[in-house]
Amino acid sequence: MIEVVDLHKSFGENKVLNGASLTIERGGTLVIIGKSGCGKSVLIKHVVGLLVPDSGYVMVEGKKVHEMKTPELYDLRKKFGFLFQGSALFDSMTVSQNISLPLVESKKDYSQKEIDKIVAEKLELVGLEGIEKLKPSELSGGMKKRAALARALVTNPDYILYDEPTTGLDPIMSDSIDNLIKDLSGKIKVTSIVVTHDMYSVKNVAHRVAMLHEGKFHFSGTTDELLKSTDPVIIDFIKRTSK
Ligand SMILES: Nc1ncnc2c1ncn2[C@@H]1O[C@H](COP(=O)(O)OP(=O)(O)O)[C@@H](O)[C@H]1O
Ligand SMILES: [Mg+2]
Repeated sequence: MIEVVDLHKSFGENKVLNGASLTIERGGTLVIIGKSGCGKSVLIKHVVGLLVPDSGYVMVEGKKVHEMKTPELYDLRKKFGFLFQGSALFDSMTVSQNISLPLVESKKDYSQKEIDKIVAEKLELVGLEGIEKLKPSELSGGMKKRAALARALVTNPDYILYDEPTTGLDPIMSDSIDNLIKDLSGKIKVTSIVVTHDMYSVKNVAHRVAMLHEGKFHFSGTTDELLKSTDPVIIDFIKRTSK
């Protein structure tokens, strides 16, 4: 379980989070929505200790993230797979080398045979079997996202964080990434947290939705509840972001 409690974060005069609170239970897919620039990426960076709060805290499985020392943070991050905006793969490496990077960097000694097996398994999960030897430059935008997702899965994380996974993709690619997110949450026991400003994705993948607005969670509930809401802020958001 992840608990965000009364989180405050400013950058200079720019108050981004202003008392954000949210509980994320294990299992299923939570989608976090909110206008561009409202602090969605800032929020999820606090979850994995990439940013430190001004006040308030994020607790992952009972431990406050900002109080963790380096070894604990290292263990925490192993629980998470990230698919950040851009999701950069290293161009000089093959797909297989890119995906196995977290394994090679971990302290365990994997044999090449073990690595190959894990990479093949993860590629299959994202529907890209057999492309180990290709370079990122040989992949389409959608395939790059999938390969980056395979890399995020390589340590068998408990949580996957997707930061705007469909931004910049055409509608068909977006659909296929949405389907993949849905598929994965069925196939492997993982809690998915998807940040998006795309209502279409919300309808496609969410079990629960939370809306960040003016530094706070303005709404948290099911997609149905969101769509039926009579709150003007929510109605306006849905209107502006539905395709
Ligand atoms: N490291 C940083 N330093 C200064 N300002 C930042 C930093 N990261 C984010 N911000 C600011 O915080 C606000 C929220 O950003 P962000 O979380 O990226 O928005 P979004 O909801 O689009 O993901 C923006 O005004 C952004 O400029
Ligand atoms: Mg962002």
